[in-house]
Amino acid sequence: MEKDKLNEFINIWSSAPDLGIPSQDYQHHYFFILVRRIVETLKDGHESDYLHNLFSELNQYARFHFRSEELMMKSLEFPGFDAHRIKHTDLLEELSIREGELAMDFSNEKIFELLGFLSHWFSEHTETVDKEFADYVLGHPLYKSKPNLF
Ligand SMILES: [Fe+2]
Ligand SMILES: [Fe+2]
Repeated sequence: MEKDKLNEFINIWSSAPDLGIPSQDYQHHYFFILVRRIVETLKDGHESDYLHNLFSELNQYARFHFRSEELMMKSLEFPGFDAHRIKHTDLLEELSIREGELAMDFSNEKIFELLGFLSHWFSEHTETVDKEFADYVLGHPLYKSKPNLF
């Protein structure tokens, strides 16, 4: 495995942006931990079965995180809910397709493609649409008066 490339991914996934909502920030941080674990496992030269399980864990965790975000949006009547949810659904679909491809061809090339896709998607998504949603939440009267409900 190309160590330089893996180190590059470790740098990219070194720290998640904080958006100011603790529950969401924890989840984004944990997502980073999961991706970093995959990259460290690759560096360590583990076998493919274990890596498949890690990718599956990541997929499940992404589902959980999106559900959590969408529930918060819904309860605070976020106007961009539908568009944001479509982005989540598209990502899960793409992730599943890429994981399926990886199951058929567990090559370095496919792994790097998937990691590159995740890096690009996640940073783009959190810094734009998640940020927009977080700003809305932070300004919402219900969140401001009872932040522990969220
Ligand atoms: Fe998010
Ligand atoms: Fe999101």
